[in-house]
Amino acid sequence: MSAPSWLEIDLDRLTGNVASIRALLGAPDRPRDGLRVGSGPALIAATIKADAYGIGIEPIARHLAPLVDWFAVYSPDQAIALAPLTRAVAILVYMPVETEGIPVALEAARVCGKRIHFTIHDRSDVGVFADIARRIGASVNVHVYLDTGMNRAGIRAEDLAPVIADVRASGSLRLLGVYTHFSSAETDGPITLEQARRFDEAVGPHVPDLAPDGHIHIANSAGLLRDGGLQRDLVRPGLLLWGYAIDAMADGSLLSRDSVLPILRWRSRIVHTRTVAAGSSVGYAGTERLARDSVLGIVPVGYGDGYPLALSGRAVVTFVNRPTLAARVLGRVNMDQLIVDLTGTGVARGDLVEIYSADVDAPNSLPRLADLAAAHCYELLCRLTPRIERRIVTFADQ
Ligand SMILES: Cc1ncc(COP(=O)(O)O)c(C=O)c1O
Repeated sequence: MSAPSWLEIDLDRLTGNVASIRALLGAPDRPRDGLRVGSGPALIAATIKADAYGIGIEPIARHLAPLVDWFAVYSPDQAIALAPLTRAVAILVYMPVETEGIPVALEAARVCGKRIHFTIHDRSDVGVFADIARRIGASVNVHVYLDTGMNRAGIRAEDLAPVIADVRASGSLRLLGVYTHFSSAETDGPITLEQARRFDEAVGPHVPDLAPDGHIHIANSAGLLRDGGLQRDLVRPGLLLWGYAIDAMADGSLLSRDSVLPILRWRSRIVHTRTVAAGSSVGYAGTERLARDSVLGIVPVGYGDGYPLALSGRAVVTFVNRPTLAARVLGRVNMDQLIVDLTGTGVARGDLVEIYSADVDAPNSLPRLADLAAAHCYELLCRLTPRIERRIVTFADQ
């Protein structure tokens, strides 16, 4: 039975993207400057929160497990879901855990054992994790998250010393990391470097407080792509693994566009065509009126699959067997379908359609559609609902 639409995921491209990041981190001319605990190339913590950015945790985690050093997820329940997919890789949980969250964090500590690492965002979190350590009868790994300007969560610089003192005094918590997160690494070099400077100033005196196998980490995808010694002991890429972060870099990247490739494309078929006379309106609320006699096609994809309503009348789809053609989405995006303009194309019922292309130059590449929808790649990926079938393929073979 053929699904109305399906996501094709090329895991070989994922391997290639990790290899490119690895090569960058290990490059002999890479400055090992800034604060660090270790002296080797930075490790990779693959950020696979939110179901691996909506792509699907299972194939992604299984494939990445032998390729990366750590995983990072948002919440303890995501860590629980990830644990059986990977037996060895450490799992960092970004989320603050407050009292109501203790039962699931406790469960995550039991399921993941020593592999789980929690994040301290508030001085009172020390007590939360010490309590978990007491209840599992083992030490718990923690990282302290320092707020350097994002103003989202995390410890402020002036509170870092007492928090670290509390962690050390607990006797049951191991300080495995201190980290921060950049607010604007894609778009703003000076702000990013200023965040790193604030981080170094606050954390510098505490490096000896970290466990010998601890890590200083500050860089997400765009951070690690920037010059300026931001890679430290460990990097936490997400979007770059899927092949997208480079498009959003406002001012240059340490990796070239051809060394990191999109790992997914979204495909469907034309399921119906009809001819409609000039002057007719099309779709809900008649938002579009045809200027010519037109051939319209139905693609069985809509906002119920995660295709943005904001692309109504604006985006195009392309055709797998006719690479130079693009057909505009006419009128409103529906819950389950799109109407596309096939006039003069020769495209027929049953022809393969590309909703999101893996070709970065295509008019329906994810970054271009994200721009058109006033969204970003993260959001468009996370919108892809589970009802879209996931297929593992090799793009070169298609
Ligand atoms: C703390 C933290 N680190 C790393 C990442 C990965 O970010 P990116 O996908 O931009 O690489 C995220 C994602 O939001 C994050 O919240």
